[in-house]
Amino acid sequence: MYFQGKTIVITGATSGIGKALAFALAKEKATLILGARRMELLEETANACHELGATVYIHHVDMAQLASIETFAQWAAIQNGNIDILINNAGIGQRGLAKDTALDVDRQVMEVNFFGQVALTKLLVPYLILSKGHIAVISSISGLFGWYQRSAYSASKHALHGFFETLQLELPEVSTTIICPGRIRTEISVNAITSCGGQHGLMDVGQANGIPADVCAAKIVVAIKNKRKLIVIATSERILLWFHTYFRPLFFFLAKRVKANG
Ligand SMILES: NC(=O)c1ccc[n+]([C@@H]2O[C@H](COP(=O)([O-])OP(=O)(O)OC[C@H]3O[C@@H](n4cnc5c(N)ncnc54)[C@H](OP(=O)(O)O)[C@@H]3O)[C@@H](O)[C@H]2O)c1
Repeated sequence: MYFQGKTIVITGATSGIGKALAFALAKEKATLILGARRMELLEETANACHELGATVYIHHVDMAQLASIETFAQWAAIQNGNIDILINNAGIGQRGLAKDTALDVDRQVMEVNFFGQVALTKLLVPYLILSKGHIAVISSISGLFGWYQRSAYSASKHALHGFFETLQLELPEVSTTIICPGRIRTEISVNAITSCGGQHGLMDVGQANGIPADVCAAKIVVAIKNKRKLIVIATSERILLWFHTYFRPLFFFLAKRVKANG
């Protein structure tokens, strides 16, 4: 098994894609180092992973706080003496028109989705260079085109592409996979931040009908194994991406017909 005995750091392992990734990698007998803010849920994930045969370490991390990320990184580096794979998964969704969204909200989304990932990567990259390891970063299909009511979210994911694609050029000894899911069935819309900083609190229709998180995680695991540079995990959203790339007027024509919560 490719992941057996590998030490893998996953952020955002309390829910959705991160939790599903932890389960998938636990089945492969990896050593897991998991972080998130909700410790009770993190313990639940860890217990389930342990039952699947993994060695698991957990620690609180708030990806919006540099001091918390530094503490987590220092702790992560000493748990198993090495790090083979870093999966930058933690993230928050956003709902609200760009014109109505407070700048503080834009900054908050950027802190968690972009600066948090960058900070943790910079702190752990010396260990990944030593192990000739792997970084996976969960972007989004919204990292490849803009989308309604997700201006800051889409911007944060586009920014990840600039940073991690540059890393692919500068650090060939560390493989980097940029993952672009479409709609995946998780709590992301429920947990999304609104234009004035509240919680969206709704399971959007598109989310509810999205790809199951375990199916998404299985595809991510294969992409890491195959050292893919970029993958898109999506269904009907792919057509939008195709038109955005090859015939942009049709992208705008179609996008206008898709509801913001669709
Ligand atoms: N679901 C989709 O349709 C979709 C599509 C494209 C990309 N993605 C991306 O996939 C990743 C995972 O999202 P998901 O869909 O699984 O959503 P989710 O179910 O809401 O899970 C988000 C995870 O991120 C963690 N997180 C959020 N803010 C954090 C913070 N400040 N510090 C530490 N951890 C934080 C949460 O843990 P705590 O709250 O416990 O801290 C949770 O474990 C995100 O990067 C998201 O942008 C999702």
